[in-house]
Amino acid sequence: MKLVHTIEELRDTLRPFNSPALVPTMGNLHAGHLDLVRAAKPLGDVTVASIFVNRLQFAPHEDFDTYPRTLQADCDKLTAEGCDVVFAPSEKELYPEPQGFKVQPPADLADILEGHFRPGFFTGVCTVVMKLFQCVLTQAKGPRYALFGQKDYQQQMVIRRMVQQFALPVNIVSVPTQRAADGLALSSRNGYLSETERTEAVQLSLALRALGRDAMAAADGLVRHLPNLEERAMQGLAARGWQPDYLTVRRRADLQVPQAGDPLVVLGAARLGKTRLIDNFEI
Ligand code: PAF
Repeated sequence: MKLVHTIEELRDTLRPFNSPALVPTMGNLHAGHLDLVRAAKPLGDVTVASIFVNRLQFAPHEDFDTYPRTLQADCDKLTAEGCDVVFAPSEKELYPEPQGFKVQPPADLADILEGHFRPGFFTGVCTVVMKLFQCVLTQAKGPRYALFGQKDYQQQMVIRRMVQQFALPVNIVSVPTQRAADGLALSSRNGYLSETERTEAVQLSLALRALGRDAMAAADGLVRHLPNLEERAMQGLAARGWQPDYLTVRRRADLQVPQAGDPLVVLGAARLGKTRLIDNFEI
């Protein structure tokens, strides 16, 4: 496996290949990331993982400074997984000057749910993903792939829309969420949890599953009952000591409030102590 830190080195390394498959990450890799690499390997002729903690997608009060940076351990895991190239640029390399040009996603998709509670988050994500695509994918001639985890359900939708609206020559592949034995969705931020919080953490996914079941049971009355069901789900978590941002049932197509008969997804975000967790299930 080759580790490169500059865009020039990366492009030199990728020149002989036609069909890169990119797994963008912020590092501190867990089994979910490695699953993305495993899914990427048969797609292209070279598998690239990027590791970059992107300041643009963190609000000033968020965990940019403390986000775990574990490059050596990450490279060991990626080598074991058979990843070909790791692109780990410094901040100065990717943002040599303040990033004045930004990719601003449409409000209907990016200012709701995660975007409502983390203003500017998806602008930061789209900007860095667009830039990573420029670095990794543009000189290829064959099909190009980028893989994202379904745990970040709204993120992969926003990126799909960006790819579509900018006619970017890349196939977006979504990979199912990896879970711990108790059902907790794997996340780099799980490492922030204390032992008792880690035991409690699965309750977010249980609350979402219960909300999903209640929504299905409401059937034709879904639209009418949904606000109450969501409120009850949030109160249930709050009573256990969580601070829920949202637990909600949305239609899969565009994450808007559903109408009867829409395919649905249940999504949630809640803080447990200092750790903010997200999860979702298609129902
Ligand atoms: O999902 C993530 O880890 C990040 O949002 C991403 C896509 C690597 C962009 O920084």
